[in-house]
Formats: sequence, structure tokens, C-alpha cells
Amino acid sequence: MRHVIILYCTTDGQTLRICEYLQGVVEQSDKRVTVLPIELADGRDLTVFDTIVIGASIRYGKHSKLVYDFIHRHAMLLDSKPNAFSVSMWWPESRAKTRPPPTLT
Ligand SMILES: Cc1cc2nc3c(=O)[nH]c(=O)nc-3n(C[C@H](O)[C@H](O)[C@H](O)COP(=O)(O)O)c2cc1C
Repeated sequence: MRHVIILYCTTDGQTLRICEYLQGVVEQSDKRVTVLPIELADGRDLTVFDTIVIGASIRYGKHSKLVYDFIHRHAMLLDSKPNAFSVSMWWPESRAKTRPPPTLT
């Protein structure tokens, strides 16, 4: 069975909620999914995963330094596998009136 890891970086938990939703969707296609805070990823052997997904929120126009550092440290590994990057961001009601927010499906 293919094994996907979703690494997340959250401040208030919203990104974790999105990653858990994504986990449920991906598991429906018969894949095993591990969800892990990005700060714990260095303790894992990431080579065993078929796909690596990173979910991160934005604060003041930037992701956490943890995210940039992780991507720089593991750039070669990430490039060698299917990978994805998910952003959890603010979509105010005033903007939603003219542009609908992106959806996960
Ligand atoms: C202090 C603060 C700064 C933020 N800055 C941005 C920003 O620059 N751009 C953006 O799109 N969203 C911004 N947001 C919205 C967050 O990215 C959004 O609420 C996100 O879902 C939070 O995810 P988290 O709980 O996983 O950290 C900000 C939120 C807070 C509280």
C-alpha cells in the first residue's frame, strides 16, 4: 500500500484541521496516511514515504521558519518524490463576495 506523509505547521490548529481532512480524502483512495507536525519530521525516516505533503499557514505574509528550514534541508528528497504544498490562509468575507475561496476537492 502506498504511504503518504502530511507534515503540518500550525499556530492555532486550522492547518491541522485541513490536513486531517486531506488525510480522510486520501485514505479513501486506499493509501495509508501519516499526519505529523513538521518539527517532528527529522526524527523519522522520510525515505519510506511515497509522497510528501506539507501544509503550512501564513502569518504576516510568511510561513514559519520551521517550514523554510525543513524544505531547504530536504530539497533533494522532496524533489525525488511526488510532493505537494498546501497553504492555509485567510479568506475574508469581503473577498469571498467577488472571489470564491479555493476548495479542497
Ligand atoms: C497574526 C496573524 C497574521 C496572519 N497573516 C496572514 C497573512 O499574511 N496572509 C494570509 O493570507 N493570512 C494570514 N493570516 C490568516 C491565517 O493564515 C489563517 O487564519 C490560517 O488558517 C491560520 O492557520 P493556523 O491556525 O494553522 O496557524 C494571519 C492570521 C493571524 C492570526
